[in-house]
Formats: sequence, structure tokens, C-alpha cells
Amino acid sequence: MKLESFLRANTTRDVSRIVMAIADSSIRVWEAIPSNAGSLAAFNPSGEKQKAIDVYSNDLFTKELVATRAVREVVSEEMAEPVPGRGEVSVAMDPLDGSSNIGTNNPVGSIFGFYSGKLPASGQSLTGALFVTYGSMTTITLSLGVDVHRFVAVRSGSRFDFELLDSGLRFPIEPEVYGFGGARRDWIDPVQRFVGSLEERGLKLRYCGTFVGDYNQVLARGGIFAYPALRSKPKGKLRILYETAPMAYITNQAGGYATDGTRSLLEVEPASLSDTSPAYLGSSSLAREIEGLISQSRST
Ligand code: F6P
Ligand code: MN
Repeated sequence: MKLESFLRANTTRDVSRIVMAIADSSIRVWEAIPSNAGSLAAFNPSGEKQKAIDVYSNDLFTKELVATRAVREVVSEEMAEPVPGRGEVSVAMDPLDGSSNIGTNNPVGSIFGFYSGKLPASGQSLTGALFVTYGSMTTITLSLGVDVHRFVAVRSGSRFDFELLDSGLRFPIEPEVYGFGGARRDWIDPVQRFVGSLEERGLKLRYCGTFVGDYNQVLARGGIFAYPALRSKPKGKLRILYETAPMAYITNQAGGYATDGTRSLLEVEPASLSDTSPAYLGSSSLAREIEGLISQSRST
């Protein structure tokens, strides 16, 4: 089934337009990576060095989203201010997740959250989320409130269509892999102990350094991804609106759990557009276990 037909049967015209604008633009972003891989002398609002492709993808997605007339505002990891539109849905995006990995040809991605109100807001006002993976395949992993579906880009003449690859994706019952960001010696104590115990249980480390790429491995094999609280950065690195909340939404829809270490990631209220939070996402049993360990270490 094509993405377009899936959307026609499963959501509103506004959301269909938004998702199709993202899908069509993502093919252009993918094609533009080789010629826009260089760094610029500019920084995003989180202080990260921008690449030409960060700016290209941000500008393209923003323009095409606003052109749908279904978007109330677009906020992005690459912009300090929201861009207004004329519709109802607020879209938060990380237009090119993991762009520092382009030189090494690891997968990169794009993350989108669809919010019902003005931003910033917690993930409780998410009505849908999707992420694109530019890897060995270009895929869209999408939830609009019922289940998680994955579509793959396939060539059709001179263009690409997204075809349904999997429906009702769920974290496998037996967890196999884990991937935690940051330096091990900088992890807070309960995280260090937890990872030691995962290794004793035979889970394998899988970490490529792109949130979307590492998350895919956990969704496919079962396990846990985290960008934990660090001693040097107690609020972690990943941004709530653009990164942790949309991926938490997908996690819940796939039968998993996502926490900031003390409560559901969807409940975390960002005070500003680029606020960060520690994030632990994946198989429900493991995400709840680390939440328990962190809560315990705080109360002693
Ligand atoms: O967006 C931030 C990001 O690039 C994520 O894609 C990734 O999970 C993380 O940073 C990796 O950070 P580190 O190199 O500190 O592990
Ligand atoms: Mn990112």
C-alpha cells in the first residue's frame, strides 16, 4: 500500500498533506546530502555547528510544511523562532538528526512531532509523530495514534513512492541490544550500574551515534536506547520538543515505554523551545527498570 492511500484511509486531509509534504521533501533531502555535506561557519540555537545540509533540510521542510496551509507553526532545532503558518497543527522538527555522522556514512534521520497547541508544550499534546531514516533504505516510521507503521521509498519511474513495509510494529519480547550516548565515565551512577547489569544479562552494545539509527536497532531487536543524565549535563543532550517527545510517542505506540528517569517522557514540560531532557526509551521492562533505579538513587 502506498503512503498516500494509507493516509487517505486513516487520517484527516490536513495531516495527510503534512505527512506527504514531509515524505516528498525527505527524498529531496536524501538526494541533496552528498553535495551539502560541508560545515558552515554557523551554529544552531543549541550551540552545535551547522552543516549546509542542516540549513537546506530545515529551509525545505519549513517551506513545504507552511505551503500545506495545514500548519499553525513550525519550530525546529535549527531555528531560534517559530515560523507561523495558517492551519491548526503545530509541527516540531529535527530536520537532520545525526548530521555530524555524514562524513562517516552512518545513517542520519529527520524527526517530526505533530502537536495540537502552541509550542512549547509537553508530549501530551502530540497527536502524531514520524521519523525518516536515511540508511541502507530510506524509511518513514509513523504513528498517528494507532500503532506504528513503516514505509520504504521505492523508485517509480522518475520519482519515489513510499510503500508500506510493516504495520503494527512492536518491541520484541526478548530484549537484545542497548545503546547509550555520552561518555561512560560521565554517566550518573545508576546508569553505570544498569548498563553493567545489561551486559551481564548478555545484551549487546549497538551504537552508531545517530538517535534515529540507534533507535531503529532497539525497535527492531528489543532493548533500550538512552541519552542519559550526565554528571556534566544533568539534563542530557536531546531536545524535548524535536527529539525525545516524538520518539517517546512512537515508543508508547509500539508497546514500549519512554522515561526521563523519573516519569513518562511525554509528561516533561519544556520551558523553552530547545530545552533538553535525559531520555531512556525502548522495551517497557527495561525503561521501567532504569526509572526505578534512578528514582531509588534520588531518594537515598
Ligand atoms: O541530535 C543529537 C545527536 O546527534 C543524536 O542524533 C545522537 O543520539 C547524539 O547526538 C549523540 O551524541 P554523543 O556523540 O554525545 O553520543
Ligand atoms: Mn538530533
